[in-house]
Order: sequence, then C-alpha cells, then structure tokens
Amino acid sequence: MIDYDKVIAELFPRARAASENAYAPFSGARVGASVVDQSGNVYTGCNVENSSYGLTQCAERNALATAISAGMKPGGAHVLLVYATGFEVLAPCGACRQVMSELLADDAVVISCHSETEFRSWSMKELLPNPFVLS
Ligand code: THU
Repeated sequence: MIDYDKVIAELFPRARAASENAYAPFSGARVGASVVDQSGNVYTGCNVENSSYGLTQCAERNALATAISAGMKPGGAHVLLVYATGFEVLAPCGACRQVMSELLADDAVVISCHSETEFRSWSMKELLPNPFVLS
C-alpha cells in the first residue's frame, strides 16, 4: 500500500520545480512531473510546447524519457506524480497514458496534484485498461 504523505512530500516539490521550467507560451499551462525508480532516483520533466502545436511534449512523457535516458529500465518506477497550474486536477492525456503503461510498473500509481494536499490518484490499469501492445 502506497504511503501518499511520504510519496507526495518527496515528489510534489520536484514536480512543482520542474513545472517552473515549462515552455508553454501557447496554452499558459505549466506542468511538471516526477517519477521515482526502485533505487529512489527521482527524474523530472515539464511540458515543452511548439509553434507547430502537434509537436508539444507533455511533462509526464518528458519525465519518463529523462528516466529512461538516465538508465531506468521499463517497469522500474511504481509512482509518477504530475502537477499543473491552470487545471482543477489534470487527468493525464491519452498519449501519456499509453507511454506510462509501457514504462511504469504494472502496479504503478499515478498521482495528480493540485496542491500538496489536494490530489487525485489512479492505478495505471484504471487510467488505461487496454493499452496498445505490439504483438
Ligand atoms: N499537458 C501535459 O503536460 N500533460 C498532460 O497530461 C496533458 C497536457 C500539457 C501539454 C500542453 O503544453 C498543455 O498541457 C495544454 O494542453
């Protein structure tokens, strides 16, 4: 069972700090994400928009790309936390759900924080019950 107080105390400040680096001139939404691996390493990402709108990269996917780039193995993280300004509580987009389902552990929990005390969480399976899997 996940200790939300402990996990949020560790991951929320990192996601909020990452959100301050967001490049979001088009939407104004600043999003930060943090993910922790089995060894306790924390990786972060922010959203990076582009004037060719479809090239925008979300914070969750950037945090996972950072983790994989640093050597985390797929399935190596059990918790991902996302923090966003400008949303009540952000529910991760479909593209991020697909990427998370492949790179997080099967039993992973995703936490979306509005503040340190206001949050929502889902299991990975709740977020994406039937992910695309290459056969
Ligand atoms: N965004 C994320 O970073 N994560 C999500 O799960 C949904 C949306 C970003 C993309 C864009 O820069 C802004 O939020 C508005 O869509």
